[in-house]
Amino acid sequence: MYRNHDHGGNIFDVAQQLGLAPSEIADFSASINPLGLSPMVKKAIVSALDSLVHYPDNGHRELKQALADHHGLSPANLVIANGSTELIYNLPATLHGRRALIISPSFSEYARALARHQWEWHHFTLSPENNFLPDLKLLEQALYRGYDALYLCNPSNPGGVLYPRQTIEQIHGLCIASGTVLVLDEAFMDFCEDASAKHIIVRRDNGIVLRSMTKFFGIPGLRLGYAVSGTDLAERLNETGVPWSVNTLAQAAGVAALKDSEHNRQTISHVRRERDFLVDSLSGFSHLKVYPSHTNFLLVEITNGMTSSELKNRLLQQRIMIRDCSSFEGLSPFFFRIAIRTTEENKRLLAALKNTYP
Ligand SMILES: Cc1ncc(COP(=O)(O)O)c(C=O)c1O
Repeated sequence: MYRNHDHGGNIFDVAQQLGLAPSEIADFSASINPLGLSPMVKKAIVSALDSLVHYPDNGHRELKQALADHHGLSPANLVIANGSTELIYNLPATLHGRRALIISPSFSEYARALARHQWEWHHFTLSPENNFLPDLKLLEQALYRGYDALYLCNPSNPGGVLYPRQTIEQIHGLCIASGTVLVLDEAFMDFCEDASAKHIIVRRDNGIVLRSMTKFFGIPGLRLGYAVSGTDLAERLNETGVPWSVNTLAQAAGVAALKDSEHNRQTISHVRRERDFLVDSLSGFSHLKVYPSHTNFLLVEITNGMTSSELKNRLLQQRIMIRDCSSFEGLSPFFFRIAIRTTEENKRLLAALKNTYP
């Protein structure tokens, strides 16, 4: 069964409940680039405004070519979408299966999308005590129970764990042997691109990589994502999608975002530096356990009995949003997730935690 489908980042709801403007709240609940969008992306959006008199390019030609150059792939291996969520919702109709296995805890929309298409799904739940590492023997046995698709997020969300390419290759091998399509969600892979399995998955037609452009490039409000797969699956997924779902401004933003290597480099070094700072500072709280992360968020466990829901409410009183992770399959009510934000916001969070745990 899937539990409720809370998400981080519902800043408009929270601002309304608190009677505040969204800008008065520090949002650690959604894991978005803290440096914001690149100035080149803003310029590209403004320049594209006059093109709004036309329908968007439904072949996404310029963006596909830019992504193909960026990843060393062919445009025929790419499917562009209105956020990777659109791909998650189109996939069950494209794959013609009926049973899926989801490596959990993970993104709740996989299960919602499967339910919408009358798929049955089960969780293969990983444990925090084991640092969310999968036992491949157990996974192999599970896959032989007959699944049409296996969902895996790398780096994992909310765990923040990065599975090495070799592990993904092994899991891909298990999927090939059991006739299962591997749906590999690399929504946060831009923070550690060298570990991407895109070149492995693209060679066969039994896997697909989902990528989001909203997190690393800081444009969740614009909506942009893509998939990487063998050409047959890419073609089928393209046919399942709604025409013109990716608007002109999003396509222009995507092309410009890939070009701004300076902003992208700064993003990576800022996130690394601030992540180290937060891990170090949070380790000083005796009742918090921080899980190692390769991406722009941290999973934290409260060990003194306070629930994450209670902590969330206490921090909200200080105008700070965190992601209570109790709705994730496989996590107890004591886990929360925080995004890596600006230096100033990160210090504000630490001060608020000190107020909460004097
Ligand atoms: C693991 C994961 N995959 C996919 C998505 C969807 O991202 P988007 O639709 O903004 O590209 C999210 C959003 O939170 C996510 O956490």
